[in-house]
Amino acid sequence: MSRILKNKRFLVTGGAGFIGSNLVRHLLKNIPDSKITVVDNLSYAGNLYNLQGLPKSRLQFIKADINNTPLMKQLFKNADFVVHLAAESHVDRSIHQSSLIFLRSNVLGTRSLLEALRESPNVELFLHFSTDEVFGTLPLNSSQKFHEKSPYLPNSPYAASKAGADMIARAYYQTWKLPIVVIHPTNNYGPRQLPEKLVPFFTIRAVNSLPLPLYGHGNHVRSWLHVDDCSEAAIKILEKGKIGESYCVTADEDKPNHFIAKMILTTLKKPASLLTYVTDRPGHDEKYSLNAAKLKRLGWKPKRKLKTHLPETVLWYKKNAEWIKKTSKNRKLFNQHIKTPSLKKEQEMGYFRKGKLS
Ligand SMILES: NC(=O)c1ccc[n+]([C@@H]2O[C@H](COP(=O)([O-])OP(=O)(O)OC[C@H]3O[C@@H](n4cnc5c(N)ncnc54)[C@H](O)[C@@H]3O)[C@@H](O)[C@H]2O)c1
Repeated sequence: MSRILKNKRFLVTGGAGFIGSNLVRHLLKNIPDSKITVVDNLSYAGNLYNLQGLPKSRLQFIKADINNTPLMKQLFKNADFVVHLAAESHVDRSIHQSSLIFLRSNVLGTRSLLEALRESPNVELFLHFSTDEVFGTLPLNSSQKFHEKSPYLPNSPYAASKAGADMIARAYYQTWKLPIVVIHPTNNYGPRQLPEKLVPFFTIRAVNSLPLPLYGHGNHVRSWLHVDDCSEAAIKILEKGKIGESYCVTADEDKPNHFIAKMILTTLKKPASLLTYVTDRPGHDEKYSLNAAKLKRLGWKPKRKLKTHLPETVLWYKKNAEWIKKTSKNRKLFNQHIKTPSLKKEQEMGYFRKGKLS
């Protein structure tokens, strides 16, 4: 079974964010005559600069909250496929700011879209973005991998809100047999990720010779997936994913955070002495690792390697000071809850608000 994507209308929620804007690029490039509507509330994480330069004849942008159900119902009437990425996505914010906004956007927002789906038989598939974090943590020394049937054991408020969204999506499938498929990607890296997340955060700090704050022992393992591989996985699922099923996505590049930090420093020719160990994140998951065999059976496989694509990503941030300046405009420094030895100096510098990168 293969769905035809050519010439179809795609509604992408959260399309002004990191993965969403990358997926929009892939849809425009690889699906002939596709028409895309992005709906995004342009929260602190969303940015129209992420969609700059894309053809206006095939891309429409609507600034709206996914909780605006009447508007979502209208938009769904003009869509053949919906890809739902809109979410509050930063674990640290769910701990150090408010978990409430996570529940509002991630759980209630998903429910709002599912209500629109109930009234839109024209929608062939609703692809719901989940995460590997819903499965909770593996012990550091474990060789086990989570898979689609692993139990949900989310640990952070972010992961719990994503698990809640998955549960409501599951219920709408079970109850009304709506055309829903779930994707669980691992940690994405690549261009246009907001500099609150590890790779751009550490890169910008390293460029400015500021300490890289590693939580706890620094050995926490994440499974790194290039955002282009993630977008290709999403498109493969749109074509071939089975309704009511879920798919894990990983490039099997499971690496500790200190390894990633060292690669960033090596790429930028900065000293390892910039690595700084800071108080651990509360409830910090030790290890994520997934098995993507089910998705590979649909014909997807990852093409990008951390060894080449992480340095490429690091250099992208180094070169794109203008993008960082624009996306960080009018914002306080990211991750201010992390206390580093140079915090006072950093606050005085306001370093990436000024786009100072070299
Ligand atoms: N980045 C990762 O490594 C990763 C890994 C696994 C899963 N995911 C999931 O993939 C999706 C995209 O992640 P990302 O890294 O691109 O996140 P992001 O924070 O870069 O982008 C999220 C986008 O959603 C928008 N948004 C948030 N709340 C909204 C609302 N209520 N209404 C409309 N728009 C809203 C934001 O403005 C932003 O543009 C999320 O669902 C996330 O949970 C991300």
